[in-house]
Amino acid sequence: RDFAVGFNFHSHPNSADVISTVEFSQSGEFLATGDKGGRVVIFQREPQVRLLTTFLGEYNVYSTFQSHDPEFDYLKSLEIEEKINKIRWLPQLHSALFLLTTNDKTIKLWKVSERDKQPEGYNLKDEEGRVKDISKITSLQVPVLRPMDLLVEASPRRVFSNAHAYHINSISINSDCETYLSADDLRINLWNLSITDRSFNIVDLKPDNMEDLTEVITVAEFHPHHCHLLAFSSSTGTTRLCDMRSRALCDQHAKLFEEAVDPASRSFFSELISSVSDVKFSHSGRYLLTRDYLSAKVWDLNMEKKPVETYQVHDYLRSKLCTLYESDCIFDKFECAWNGTDSVIMTGAYNNFFRMFDRASRRDVTLEASREVCKRRAVLRPRRVCIGRKRRESDICVDSLDFRKKVLHTACCLSNILITIACLCLPFLILALINWY
Ligand SMILES: *[C@@H]1O[C@H](CO)[C@@H](O)[C@H](O)[C@H]1NC(C)=O
Ligand SMILES: *[C@@H]1O[C@H](CO)[C@@H](O)[C@H](O)[C@H]1NC(C)=O
Repeated sequence: RDFAVGFNFHSHPNSADVISTVEFSQSGEFLATGDKGGRVVIFQREPQVRLLTTFLGEYNVYSTFQSHDPEFDYLKSLEIEEKINKIRWLPQLHSALFLLTTNDKTIKLWKVSERDKQPEGYNLKDEEGRVKDISKITSLQVPVLRPMDLLVEASPRRVFSNAHAYHINSISINSDCETYLSADDLRINLWNLSITDRSFNIVDLKPDNMEDLTEVITVAEFHPHHCHLLAFSSSTGTTRLCDMRSRALCDQHAKLFEEAVDPASRSFFSELISSVSDVKFSHSGRYLLTRDYLSAKVWDLNMEKKPVETYQVHDYLRSKLCTLYESDCIFDKFECAWNGTDSVIMTGAYNNFFRMFDRASRRDVTLEASREVCKRRAVLRPRRVCIGRKRRESDICVDSLDFRKKVLHTACCLSNILITIACLCLPFLILALINWY
């Protein structure tokens, strides 16, 4: 089905269709989305991309499959949701596609491949696959491959389970293409992609006494080029860089990126809003982009004590933290992304707004991912949030922002200024080619 501009699921926010993750393949030709119902939908870009249209509607559904099903953990009497937490593509080596998908506990490796030929003319089987009566076979025939309608098949290749006591929040494929990591609230495990029955625990933050628990792992990622480096962030606002060459257990970090909070501005919410919700290495491998509740920060791997760039995403919410805490919004986890040349960063906000920052010119823009905009194929117009009185008709006041509409998931495709956003409360996905100059 061609979803033209937006892929609208026309559904209730709590239903299984709500998108929980989005991820482009390395080439940008494919886009995978995971949803609360455990399904994965893969979209493929049409060959001719008309770059002149504002929206790239030329992604069509390529394959849909059920990746995870609800399960029940009888030992702990716990329901294990089928919701897809993360999807990661393996680098494409030949025509088949491989991707890892995970829910809270189990990671699966999927192979998605095309079939456009089928063998015909078996000697021992008839066309329906039934075994023939051997006594009636009188001649020998040579089976041939005949063209058929294109069939895209998704098959589970490996299941990596029973390695996480807590909920998996991240998976990341290593640049060696042989290993990957999976992280939960307290531990990070290292897997070999071809071995399912064991993994190595490389980070363990679980204290002997759970009452001493002070931080949880929020996200972890491998370095894009150095297979021995990985970064993980925590709820206390720190990001650690670990080097697997120095020791097998990376509890001792190689570097710690943390910005000291000004004691004068410290409040009850300081720690909550400093929790890192996403971390992404730049494509060059030199920088780390972290997202906390109110800002996005760029860190140079060579400088630990403070970020080289800080971008305010929605600083006007600083006076609203109490309300945001009461509605649990303060725990929302916004993702962030670099564009292909590491020159623009992008992250989501409330009211279906998302923000883009140009690093060189220091320009920034707020755009709205709305269903109406998609329908009209309109150009995304910059939006502005004002704190006091409206200065322009199109401005929106802080008090009228809708906190139920949020752009939590973002992904950028390498080959274009193409951006996808999956909104949690308005469950649709827009693909936009954004030209903000
Ligand atoms: C992963 O396992 C395969 C098969 O056992 C092995 O050939 C390969 O060397 C392993 N890779 C790493 C990085 O350990
Ligand atoms: C990244 O963004 C900059 C500025 O908009 C643009 O010039 C550049 O082409 C983008 N890079 C890619 C690969 O999309």
